[in-house]
Amino acid sequence: MSRQPKAEGGPMRGGPKGMGKPTNIGQTMKRIAYYMREDKWILLIVFISIIVSAVANIVGISALQIIIDNYLQPLTQNNNSELMREFILVIGGISIVYLVGVGSTYLFNRLMVGVSTRTLYKIRVDLFTKMESLPIKYYDTNTHGNLMSLYTNDIDTLRQVLSNSITGFINSLITVVGVFTMMIIYSWQLTIIVVLMMSLMLLSIRVIGGKSANFFMRQQQEIGRVNGFIEEMIEGQKVIKVFSRQERVIEEFEVLNEALRNSATSANIFANILMPIMVNLSYVLYAITAMVGGLFAINGTLSIGTVIAFLQFTRTLSQPINQISQQMNAVLTSLAGAERIFNVIDEKPELDEGQVTMVPVELDQDNQMTEVDYRTGEFAWKEENADGSIKYTRVRGNVVFSDVTFGYEKNKTVLKGVSLYAKPGQKIAFVGSTGAGKTTITNLINRFYDVPSGKISIDGIEINKIKKPDLRRSLAMVLQDTHLFTGTVMENIRYGRLDATDEEVIAAAKLANADKFIRHLENGYQTVLTSDASNLSQGQRQLLAIARAAIAETPILILDEATSSIDTRTEKLIQKGMDRLMEGKTSFIIAHRLSTVRSAKAIMVLEHGEIIERGDHDQLIEQKGRYYELSAGLFELT
Ligand SMILES: Nc1ncnc2c1ncn2[C@@H]1O[C@H](COP(=O)(O)OP(=O)(O)OP(=O)(O)O)[C@@H](O)[C@H]1O
Ligand SMILES: [Mg+2]
Repeated sequence: MSRQPKAEGGPMRGGPKGMGKPTNIGQTMKRIAYYMREDKWILLIVFISIIVSAVANIVGISALQIIIDNYLQPLTQNNNSELMREFILVIGGISIVYLVGVGSTYLFNRLMVGVSTRTLYKIRVDLFTKMESLPIKYYDTNTHGNLMSLYTNDIDTLRQVLSNSITGFINSLITVVGVFTMMIIYSWQLTIIVVLMMSLMLLSIRVIGGKSANFFMRQQQEIGRVNGFIEEMIEGQKVIKVFSRQERVIEEFEVLNEALRNSATSANIFANILMPIMVNLSYVLYAITAMVGGLFAINGTLSIGTVIAFLQFTRTLSQPINQISQQMNAVLTSLAGAERIFNVIDEKPELDEGQVTMVPVELDQDNQMTEVDYRTGEFAWKEENADGSIKYTRVRGNVVFSDVTFGYEKNKTVLKGVSLYAKPGQKIAFVGSTGAGKTTITNLINRFYDVPSGKISIDGIEINKIKKPDLRRSLAMVLQDTHLFTGTVMENIRYGRLDATDEEVIAAAKLANADKFIRHLENGYQTVLTSDASNLSQGQRQLLAIARAAIAETPILILDEATSSIDTRTEKLIQKGMDRLMEGKTSFIIAHRLSTVRSAKAIMVLEHGEIIERGDHDQLIEQKGRYYELSAGLFELT
């Protein structure tokens, strides 16, 4: 992904908006065009309408010459009723031409609104779909601000450009060419004067505008910084208040705000001076053309009508010429944004080379498995052999790690030669200090990350042979940081298994000991949780997360500090419920509480990514090693 230049100093999430130049214009335009392919006939109509509208404008102006020379002048000299009738007809004709022009302007603008919103709809779908298929690793290295700015900033610039700038640009181009041609036809001498004056004007735009563009870039950067700072301070309000850092925050803000004021002043001084100067210069140009044109008319080289029409063309010309460069800039900026969007769309999705699937099976008396298409609570791994035969392995949750070494970054190993096994139904606990690698182990079982060296298998099947969605359906997880979605409590628990009935949801909530507090909520199970359930306590959120995992009814359960914010008594109750649920199934539990750890079949003590002790509680206490030391801390909690 071509990252936006990150401003130095100052917290900044989103980065300066709309910065950078597109690197591959042709390719990007082709891709945008591809998104519009279904609208190609509409685009053709748009294109024709733009031409019609520009031509109508030019014809209307040229008509001035005919009106003046052929009708007005003769009519002022003698009142010829025949000529008058013709004149009225011509005026009527010209009105129709203008009406057609207005109509086609309406038409192409209206059509482009549809085309641009449809195109962006499709791009947004592709972008979001891709986001859902990206590996977790992608989110480790790309800030959420950067991703958000694709939706809020880049897509919006693209929309404006598609619905306005592109049509405007084509319109300007056609108008300039048409007007210029007409001017040459009318008087090449006057045209030379206009071209010379305009070149001077454009040169001054270049000089002043070029500088102003730099200041605008600076201004954009400063806006990014100020916004990033504000965003972070909104999120950190509680911490700011607790440490009474308001004044300091305001001071920091003032520094950023001052920088923004400076660059905005410079940018806008130029912009504000440029426009009036251009307008004045164009008056000067108009006056000079009028003077020279007048002289030509007096000595009879040009007719009065021609001079007036020519003057009108001169005015018409300066507007699109001024606009073309603006529109070009808008188009380039939006192409840079589109490129960022396409870069994300082109990111490699999470690779899934797995073939083995997990299917529901019916078990007969001799444990023979038959694949079925309904839920039985029993599952089998379905492997297709090279010869086409199918092998079913009952899903039990037999997890084996052999010599697994892993690091998030290339030269920083986090896990070193970890080997362990968990037999079906066993409860394995991980203990160890912060940063020892406990969460990392669980991240590997569900293949958030792939293992570069060593093997992990479930029921004898290496996990990278299993299709990722199927692998993940075989595990339920309560992540270390609970996340709940906007929606009712009922919906949030049902997230674990979408076809669960209301009764099943309630049963899971009871199991997780969440039922009681849910019933005390304003609307019980129908209470709506908002923005990551900030209306619940930390412990209540964890209870919901546990219920959500419980309802999934998977053979493997992973609880990462799932009960860290829950009181000991409730935790024991949950434990009982879970034990019932997890009978014959495997669970991995990361906890800091003795009551949780004690009942584990095996406790792994992890330190610096290595398992340094293993055994059950009594054995480890006897060893008087690290666990023994840790357990002094653990005991306090019981
Ligand atoms: N996404 C990541 N990218 C890079 N490094 C990471 C990432 N996640 C964790 N680490 C690093 O890996 C190491 C192990 O982290 P891990 O989260 O497994 O620790 P933990 O044992 O779960 O700790 P805690 O008890 O605090 O949850 C730490 O040094 C951490 O800095
Ligand atoms: Mg952790």
